[in-house]
Amino acid sequence: NGNYLVTLIPGDGIGPEISRSVKEIFAAAKTPIEWEEVDVTPVIKDGKTAIPDEAIASVRKSTVALKGPLATPIGKGHVSLNLTLRRTFNLYANVRPCRSVEGYKTPYENVDTVLIRENTEGEYSGIEHEVVDGVVQSIKLITREASERVARYAFTYAEAVGRDRVTAVHKANIMKLADGLFLDVCKQVSKDFPNIKFNDVLLDRACLHITADPSVYSDTVMVMPNLYGDILSDMSAGLIGGLGLTPSGNIGRDASIFEAVHGTAPDIAGQDKANPTALLLSSIMMLKHMRLTEHAANIEQAVFKTLAEGKALTGDLGGRASNTEYTKAVIANLKF
Ligand code: IPM
Ligand code: MN
Repeated sequence: NGNYLVTLIPGDGIGPEISRSVKEIFAAAKTPIEWEEVDVTPVIKDGKTAIPDEAIASVRKSTVALKGPLATPIGKGHVSLNLTLRRTFNLYANVRPCRSVEGYKTPYENVDTVLIRENTEGEYSGIEHEVVDGVVQSIKLITREASERVARYAFTYAEAVGRDRVTAVHKANIMKLADGLFLDVCKQVSKDFPNIKFNDVLLDRACLHITADPSVYSDTVMVMPNLYGDILSDMSAGLIGGLGLTPSGNIGRDASIFEAVHGTAPDIAGQDKANPTALLLSSIMMLKHMRLTEHAANIEQAVFKTLAEGKALTGDLGGRASNTEYTKAVIANLKF
């Protein structure tokens, strides 16, 4: 029927509510998307926690998914299904843009950063063991292959969005081998992109810079190993008003999954209080990825207009609107 098939993983906690909001706005904007909704509750397969086969089959077929948050146990328990999804589909680059929202005041203005996080290995490899009681090891795995593909993605992304620099973020002063390899590969890849400048910065300095003056990073695309990207993306989100406002895209060769960076917010789940903006912005990234540019622009301007008007903000942004009221306000601001 000429529609684009997208897998929708509503997720846990506030996931179903914020997913409903996206579906309503997409329908009102006549976006040519056909949703295939799948459940991602953990199943046990060969003694390991896994994702249900139907969900995997759906993403393989559609190649594009929008995903709400999935609960991740802390300390003990199964491997986060968020990570399992990233690994199953080899989603090697996690793109996390972060831009100040007009009308929502924070101590920072004009934040406009793009962070690309290696998404398959590094500190997230999950290779851990106890050597003897009281002594444990976690392996940080860095490979040339994964470093190279994420570096290449960062340069290509910079070209595509008109940023003139790529900045590698690392701790090669301490992790001489692991981060040293990552940095070397970025340098090597930069030679293939003569129009894009390249520099590098230590992670701790990057944290200092970004909180002192985020504009230092507004002309560049930052690329870094997995855990650094996890932390620095939350730090960037803090500058603009929190995780309710930041989208992300997990990009692979054969599939891509767009998701909000925030968690399941069990304390407010089921109460119509959640802010769907992060998932909405992720869905807008998704539309751009699918080259549905006009629909993306229409919904994007409606979201930012609603936030700037400030009349229908949810509790996390200091307002009193419900998710339903916010969603209605966004729909009222659609141009077509
Ligand atoms: C994120 C999240 C995940 C991560 C968790 C939920 C596994 O914090 O997407 O940033 O650590 O990558
Ligand atoms: Mn995180």
